[in-house]
Amino acid sequence: MPVPVANLRPILRASRPAWEAHLAQLFERSQFILGEQLASFEKEFAAFLDAAHAIGVGNGTDAIGLALREAGVSGEVLTTALTAPFTGVAITSAGCTPRFADVNPETMQIDPDDAGNRLRKKTTAVVPVHLYGQPCELDRIAALARAHRLTLIQDACQAHGATFQGKPFSAFSAHVAYSFYPTKNLGCLGDGGAIVTRKAAVAKRLLGLRDGGRNGGQVSYGPGINSRLDEMQACYLRAFLPLLAASNDQRRQVAARYDAALADCKGVRLLRRTPESVCHLYVIRAARRDRLRQFLTEKGIGTGIHYPVPLHLHPGFAACGQKRGDLPHAEKACKEIVSLPVWPGLTASEVDQVAEAVREFYKR
Ligand SMILES: Cc1ncc(COP(=O)(O)O)c(C=O)c1O
Repeated sequence: MPVPVANLRPILRASRPAWEAHLAQLFERSQFILGEQLASFEKEFAAFLDAAHAIGVGNGTDAIGLALREAGVSGEVLTTALTAPFTGVAITSAGCTPRFADVNPETMQIDPDDAGNRLRKKTTAVVPVHLYGQPCELDRIAALARAHRLTLIQDACQAHGATFQGKPFSAFSAHVAYSFYPTKNLGCLGDGGAIVTRKAAVAKRLLGLRDGGRNGGQVSYGPGINSRLDEMQACYLRAFLPLLAASNDQRRQVAARYDAALADCKGVRLLRRTPESVCHLYVIRAARRDRLRQFLTEKGIGTGIHYPVPLHLHPGFAACGQKRGDLPHAEKACKEIVSLPVWPGLTASEVDQVAEAVREFYKR
């Protein structure tokens, strides 16, 4: 049986009565932007994350960009070289220049020591990413930010529900950005995102910033953009949210099963993870990665690469001034990493089928 790399059908099926009810309410009310579905979702999502406020926006890129704007960040912003290009795009969209730090080769997360070494006078903020659902070393990054008076904005676009040392991410900084891209642990059926904060004043300013600088009326009081999470997406997100804790657990079980099945597989290096990971992606380092992918494709097994090119080597981020060879761990990792299927509803026998195919490849 084919095994896709991601599959939304089980969650769509399981939550259907809820999203149908929300859609019926929405159509009855017929307010499609900034209505009661979004207001309810924002409260529910904030409560789920043990934070005071969530502000729904158009996508995760805008969530990071608006957080940078709200914090008044300008100049150079340090982030990891191994992330979705959109982390860098968000930094540029806020008028800042991205600069990149290397990763810890065991975890693929931003390396706090390397980040510290790359700070310059013009570095004003740090945007760590909780990559693959695994919290980065947030205590060390937060300490670095404090010591150098950097604004700390967390890219949690892949880490819905993850915590760090038992605390919610919002305990570590005033801005935590989420994406609801469809394949995320909490995804909608289009683009969506949110910024989560404990601070009422930050939340209030973000409500204006996402809505053209307005304050509920037709007057713009300051700089803003148009980036609002729409009502239709809120209907689905409200239906998926009650299933998130259980689906994160299912992802963890899938990851643990892969770990056990691949631990002694020659050619495969597992990444180090903590139990607080929400296992958005299951990524291994694989010898002859591209041939392995081809082999799995022929067996009907979907894979992905997150990500094939470190951000400092993207022509779009040339302004960072970093070149090939500057970030050796990220550069090497990008040639070796491969993401195996993980989604809630993936069965134990499907996981075994994937793991067995990987083992078969390395036995040949
Ligand atoms: C780590 C990371 N940051 C930022 C983003 C941007 O989110 P979006 O696609 O919703 O703009 C994504 C998702 O693609 C992501 O995975």
